[in-house]
Formats: sequence, C-alpha cells, structure tokens
Amino acid sequence: MLAPTRDRWSRLNVYLHWLIVALVVVQYIDHEWMVQMWDGEQHGSPVSQGIAYGGWLHIIAGSLILGAAFLRLIDRFWSGRPPHPDQVPNWSTWVAKITHFLIYAILLLMPSLGLLAWFTGDDTIAHYHTFFWTPLLILVALHIAGALMQHFYYRTDVLRRMA
Ligand code: HEM
Ligand code: HEM
Repeated sequence: MLAPTRDRWSRLNVYLHWLIVALVVVQYIDHEWMVQMWDGEQHGSPVSQGIAYGGWLHIIAGSLILGAAFLRLIDRFWSGRPPHPDQVPNWSTWVAKITHFLIYAILLLMPSLGLLAWFTGDDTIAHYHTFFWTPLLILVALHIAGALMQHFYYRTDVLRRMA
C-alpha cells in the first residue's frame, strides 16, 4: 500500500475500531427484528412496535458502521498505519493484510446493499446483503485468532497499540 506509515494508530482510528466492534455485536443481536420488519414491509403487513424499534436499530447501527469504516479508511490513507511487526513470518502478515482488506470490503458493501434494498424494496438485493454475514463472521473469527496469536505467541505490541 502506498499510504504513509506512522508509529501508532491515531486515537480516532482506535476509537472507530472498537465502535465498529460494538456495532457489529448490536447487528448480531438485532438482525432477527430486521428480518421480521422486512417481511412485514414486503407483504404489507404491520409489525409490532418492538419489532419496528429493533429493525430501526439495525438500520441506524448498520449506517453508523458504514460511516465509521469509511472514516477509518480516510484516516488510514491520510496518515498511514503502523508497520506490521518484523518478528512474524511473511505468510502471516499476508493473511492479516488480506483479512483486513476483505473485512473493510464487507463493512462497506453490506450496509450499502442493505440501504439499497431498503430504499428500492428489492428482495434480491436484500438477499445479497444477508449473504455476506457468514463470510464476515468467519473473517472476524480469523482476525481475532490472529490478534491473539500476535499477542500471546509472537509477543508483539500489535494488540496493545490497538488499545
Ligand atoms: C455492516 C452492517 C450490517 C450488518 C452486519 C447487517 C447484518 C444483517 C443480518 C445478519 C441480517 C439477517 C440475515 C438473515 O438472518 O438472513 C440482515 C438483514 C437485513 N438487513 Fe442488515 N446489516 C447491516 C446493515 C444494514 C443496513 C444499513 C440496512 C439498511 C436498511 C440493512 C437492511 C437489512 C434488511 C432489509 C434485512 C432483511 C433482509 C431479508 O430478510 O432478506 N442492513 N442484516
Ligand atoms: C467485529 C469485529 C472486528 C472487526 C470488524 C475488526 C476490524 C479490523 C480491521 C479492518 C482492522 C485493520 C486495520 C487496518 O489495517 O486499517 C483491524 C485491526 C486490528 N484489530 Fe480488529 N476487528 C474486530 C475485532 C477485533 C477484536 C475482538 C480484537 C482483539 C482481540 C481486534 C484486534 C485488532 C488489532 C490488534 C488490530 C491492529 C492490527 C495491526 O496493527 O496490524 N479486532 N480490525
């Protein structure tokens, strides 16, 4: 990547990382309400107020994820990111880079497709939207395993600098 490098992540970037983590947990909790609200919209049948609140929480949290991921990328291209540590094997750094790239791609694509489905009422787009959920969970699991491996096995400061 041609972006400049720096010693530490910016505070903004660290804050946005953990905000996105919290919002993905919110999506994990609220997605069933969104599915029910969407079904109601598709069939023209009213849903309870509780389901509607849950559905709107999904839309708001998802839109915030889109904004936060976008801001992180701007910050990263503007000010760079700290270098990957030298003491880990090359293959592992490449797995990290590819995982990060794919996570960013899904964090931008998924909410965009969700919003597009919502505003057009198109169920096919909604299906593309939900398709990315399982890949996101698998990538996040890989990412967390990598972060823990950096800390406990390779004993780098990668986890500490994201704190
Ligand atoms: C990164 C952010 C988001 C994530 C991780 C996410 C995740 C999910 C998940 C897991 C489901 C249910 C999948 C299922 O059980 O089949 C879902 C459904 C849905 N989401 Fe999102 N969502 C996000 C953002 C959004 C946004 C911003 C909107 C905008 C309106 C949205 C609209 C929808 C709709 C309409 C459905 C129902 C689709 C259906 O039942 O076919 N999502 N989302
Ligand atoms: C929904 C969950 C998560 C998502 C979507 C996510 C996403 C990301 C992304 C995209 C990056 C790459 C930053 C960049 O190169 O610009 C990153 C970095 C990082 N994440 Fe996560 N993350 C999640 C959860 C976690 C958790 C639970 C941990 C801790 C166990 C963690 C630890 C880290 C660390 C240490 C870095 C910095 C890596 C480095 O400096 O090379 N992440 N995260």
